[in-house]
Amino acid sequence: MWRPPERIRHPLPDEAWPSAQEAAASTLYSPVRLGPVSLAHRTWIPAMVPWRATEDGFVTPDVLAWYRRFAQGKPGAIVVEATGIRDVPSGPLLRIGHARFVPGLRSLVDTVREASEGHTKLFIQLIDFLRIRRRPPRGRFLGGFLEITDAHRDAVGTRDDAVVREALLAMDDAELSEVLSERELEALRFGDRERVTDLHLPHIAALPQALPGLFADAAARAKEAGFDGVELHYAHAYTMASFLSARNTRTDGYGGDRASRVRLPLEVFGAVRSRVGADFCVGCRFLSHEIIEGGSNVADAAYFGQRFAEAGMDFLSLSRGGKFEDALQPKEGWSAYPYTGPSGYECMPTVFSDASGPYGRNVDAVATIRSAVRASGYDTPIVVAGGIGTFSQAESILRAGHADVVGAARQSLADPDWFAKVLEGQGADVRRCKFTNYCEALDQKHRQVTCQLWDRQDLDAPDVMLSHDGRRRLTAPARRRWPR
Ligand SMILES: Cc1cc2nc3c(=O)[nH]c(=O)nc-3n(C[C@H](O)[C@H](O)[C@H](O)COP(=O)(O)O)c2cc1C
Ligand code: SF4
Repeated sequence: MWRPPERIRHPLPDEAWPSAQEAAASTLYSPVRLGPVSLAHRTWIPAMVPWRATEDGFVTPDVLAWYRRFAQGKPGAIVVEATGIRDVPSGPLLRIGHARFVPGLRSLVDTVREASEGHTKLFIQLIDFLRIRRRPPRGRFLGGFLEITDAHRDAVGTRDDAVVREALLAMDDAELSEVLSERELEALRFGDRERVTDLHLPHIAALPQALPGLFADAAARAKEAGFDGVELHYAHAYTMASFLSARNTRTDGYGGDRASRVRLPLEVFGAVRSRVGADFCVGCRFLSHEIIEGGSNVADAAYFGQRFAEAGMDFLSLSRGGKFEDALQPKEGWSAYPYTGPSGYECMPTVFSDASGPYGRNVDAVATIRSAVRASGYDTPIVVAGGIGTFSQAESILRAGHADVVGAARQSLADPDWFAKVLEGQGADVRRCKFTNYCEALDQKHRQVTCQLWDRQDLDAPDVMLSHDGRRRLTAPARRRWPR
């Protein structure tokens, strides 16, 4: 993973945990309304993909165990991992693109209701993504995948494509970069990746016609499965974020200026809302800043937030970065991973940082966006996340009016009981996230995600579920067994 060049190692912030009385009187543990849904507390576990679905995208016992463990800590809300809205193979990523996925998702809802004793509201993140290929072996790319064009023929000086391929194969990297186009070089070095600006591809040109219906159908299935709401995934490296991006230069009315870039996200929301009605919670996750050259910034995000609030979204959740554009080159046979460059760092910052440090890195931007939404007259709740792992951080963000709900992804993975422990005045028992991203490295390799703080503990205890290689436990040990 990329790190800021300063490489300053930041210690975990000191924390004087509150007493049970102080926690009970806090803003963090006060209720908040998200449209039709009320959260008992302003505590939130953002979406995290744990790579535990079947290859066909179905809920498994491991998926249920993952969410059961989070629900036992009774957060105000859990957002289920990015779940694909199309009925297409997507590896072990959850899917909601067909009615056959509903029964499994219903069991997930039931599991969370039971484990949290009805305390935790459950949302599911709906995602669409474009095709990305693995980085090909050089020989296979130049010898086969690459479509030979007149530019290549002219450069080599022959119309015989077999000879052109041989010539390309004999070139070194510098020579190739003279002959191949920027996109062809990217396909060779990173793997071919579709973009929303590929208007020459009919299925990309037709995204504005296809996506509202696909998202609406998926949201209707989420409602049928019993979720409290959906989070439309408009963040990171995926289709909807690419529409919002300042790098979206589509010329069909869905790219260019801000109003055109936000058009499809609004149309998707409109279709979802008309399908599920006002009694089902619908919000979105989008980026406070893309952190890439030429990408959208906080001013863009403030504008998008205002438009989403005006359209009637029930919550706005803000993430940061996580883009393909600055991702590191993957190994041959691997796909690019959008959390390996500077924008990825901003999304999941680690303790090896610059002078600003990793803690609450998204807060200032989120505060600006929230102010803009409030200035437009909307009180839509705003969810912040990014490097938050103590009560004091969370409480001061809320008290300052920088956000309305506090998300903690990795801290909740490190200790799924942490919100409950703090509420009970047992903050000293919280197992604190080290923010060094062992979990994120597992995600990058599409391996079952666990936390280094507990995944080797008590492996031979009864009922422990183990990873495919049998070397890690898949969920945090039960609270009573943790050392005090
Ligand atoms: C293993 C892992 C998987 C993640 N999967 C998703 C995802 O499916 N959707 C999403 O919006 N963010 C995802 N994220 C990002 C988190 O939701 C969160 O924004 C990020 O980790 C920063 O918050 P934190 O500092 O509280 O961990 C993931 C993060 C991790 C560590
Ligand atoms: S693996 Fe590391 S970064 Fe991830 S949750 Fe555990 S302590 Fe935090």
